[in-house]
Formats: sequence, C-alpha cells, structure tokens
Amino acid sequence: MTADAPRHRVRVPDALLASFDDEAGRAWLAALPALAESYLDWWDLRLDGPPAHGTVALVLPVARPDGSRAVLKLQPVDEETRGEPLALRAWAGRDAVRLLDSDPATGTMLLERLDASRSLAGVADGTVALRILSELLARLVALPAPAGLPTLADTAAAMLDRLPHLLSRLEVPADRPLLTTCADAMREVLPEPGDRLLHWDLHYENVLARGSCAGSAGPTQWLAIDPKPLAGHPGFELLPALRNRWDDIVATGNAARAVGHRFRLMTEVVGLDRQQATGWTLGRVLQNALWDIEDGAATLDPQQATIARALLGIG
Ligand SMILES: Nc1ncnc2c1ncn2[C@@H]1O[C@H](COP(=O)(O)OP(=O)(O)O)[C@@H](O)[C@H]1O
Ligand SMILES: [Mg+2]
Repeated sequence: MTADAPRHRVRVPDALLASFDDEAGRAWLAALPALAESYLDWWDLRLDGPPAHGTVALVLPVARPDGSRAVLKLQPVDEETRGEPLALRAWAGRDAVRLLDSDPATGTMLLERLDASRSLAGVADGTVALRILSELLARLVALPAPAGLPTLADTAAAMLDRLPHLLSRLEVPADRPLLTTCADAMREVLPEPGDRLLHWDLHYENVLARGSCAGSAGPTQWLAIDPKPLAGHPGFELLPALRNRWDDIVATGNAARAVGHRFRLMTEVVGLDRQQATGWTLGRVLQNALWDIEDGAATLDPQQATIARALLGIG
C-alpha cells in the first residue's frame, strides 16, 4: 500500500513524504491516511480544503458537524510533541490556538482553524513583527507550566553531560572554546532554571492570525501554534526570533549590532534580566549545536556562532 493509495480520501503531500527518511517514519506515513480517516469518522468531520504540513505534522482543514471550521493535526508522538495538547489546554485559546479535542493515544488534535495565509513571517516590517512576537511571548510565558512537561533543568543537565564527548568532533579550532563558553554561561544560570510554560519553537511561521482578513474587525489577533512545550526560563525562548529573517541582519552590514538590537528589544518587552537571558540563549545555541554535531556536522552553524559572539561581546 502506498501512502496516497486512491481508495483514501486523505492524501499525504509529497513534501511531507520526503521529510521522513527512517523506517519508523515511513511506517507512520504509510498508516497516516487511514489514521486521519479514522479521526474524520470519530469526530464526524468533513474535509474542507487542501492539506497543509510542516516538517512533521499533517494538518487537514475540516468542517465540524455544526459547520464550524477546524483543522485536524496528526504528528508522531515523541518527547517534543507529547506535551502539545497539555500546553494548548493551559493557554486555553487566549494566546495560542484553541484545542478543541485530542486523543492522547496517537497525539492527534482537533484545533481551531486560524488563517494559515497570514503568519508573522508575512509582516513586512521586521521590527514590527519582532515586537508582536515578543509581546505574544511575554503573555505565553506569564503562565506557570502545568505538571507533567519536560523541564529545562533536565534538558540543560543532559546537554552538559553530552558536551565533552561531542566537542571532540568539532574540526575548526575556534569552535570548541566558543561552545565551551556557551556551556559555561548556561551553567551560571542553571541554578534558576525557571518554571514558566515555554513554547520552545516560537518562530514567525508558528504565529498565525485568528479569523480571515475580510471577516475581522479591529486589530489582528496573533496566536502561537505548534508548541514543543517545556517548563523553564523564558530566556530559552529568544533564539528562534534572533535567527529568523537572517537576511535583514546581514543587510545592516553589522550583524553583531543587529543581533544586539533584537536581543534588547525582546528582553525589554518580555521583561527579562539580560544576564539570565544571555545565559539561556547561549544554552539554546549549545542545544542546536549538539544536535547538529550528532547529525554529523563538524563545524558550528555560522549564524549561531555570530549570535553567540554578539551576545558575548566578542562579535
Ligand atoms: N490551527 C491551524 N489553522 C490553520 N492552519 C494551521 C493550523 N495549525 C497548523 N496549520 C498549518 O499547518 C502548518 C504546519 O503546522 P505546524 O503545527 O506548524 O506543524 P509542524 O510541527 O510540522 O511545523 C502550519 O505552518 C500552517 O500552515
Ligand atoms: Mg510549525
């Protein structure tokens, strides 16, 4: 059976098929059309538009029995995705997409439909977009994390455990001390790992507008989608927006200054102590670097190295 066998109403987009290259992923994709259809039947939904997807999730626009619009989101359950329904329930539709129903057995969620054609990535003025994202972040992290989520304290400790072994795989001499410095900075803030509900993946494409342009009155309501929630310190949330729209950073001709400008705007709006935010952001650089090295990289990602140096004042 192929993933898009014609007897299925649900077709998995080719790009999503291409983004899973291991055996478990392929098995999940092969079962995905039938799984999606079982939820269409279970929640009595009608398909209502072409499928969307990110790197892991299949998102189907659907209509509910009362005619209201929703989306069905299916994704493999792992340590990162498991907490998504819990976090969305805690935010209760205020600053993140509203969770209408979910099945913990498979991680499938029925969500309020937002306007997928309007994400923060489409807001032309970078500073305006950054301010909107920062204000949203401030509201999201105002909540304490519900019990049962992975913690930043554990995540950070696990990173420090893996570091010595992975460090030796870096080939460029200057990369090793930079990563060690990131780890040292994170060690300093580790005694206060925080207890807030973190989104962890708040980049511009994960912020969508509520309602359609035509039907909305008043200012746009921007809501987060796609959290990979964690209990911890909000300083760990800044890196995605520091990295997004990198062309804008390059265009200024002074990357360190432009990164510093973004960092100051975010810490000011979210109300973060700069030293703590620096420590946790460098911890986030470390996290990404460790993943890259585990995936075979022998050098640090230049953007991330630029961000780390800028925050350390050595850019
Ligand atoms: N509630 C929603 N309403 C409308 N579109 C959505 C909604 N949630 C997700 N999408 C669409 O599906 C895409 C992938 O969803 P996302 O939750 O970001 O999954 P991934 O983890 O794969 O990035 C989004 O970029 C968006 O286009
Ligand atoms: Mg996403």
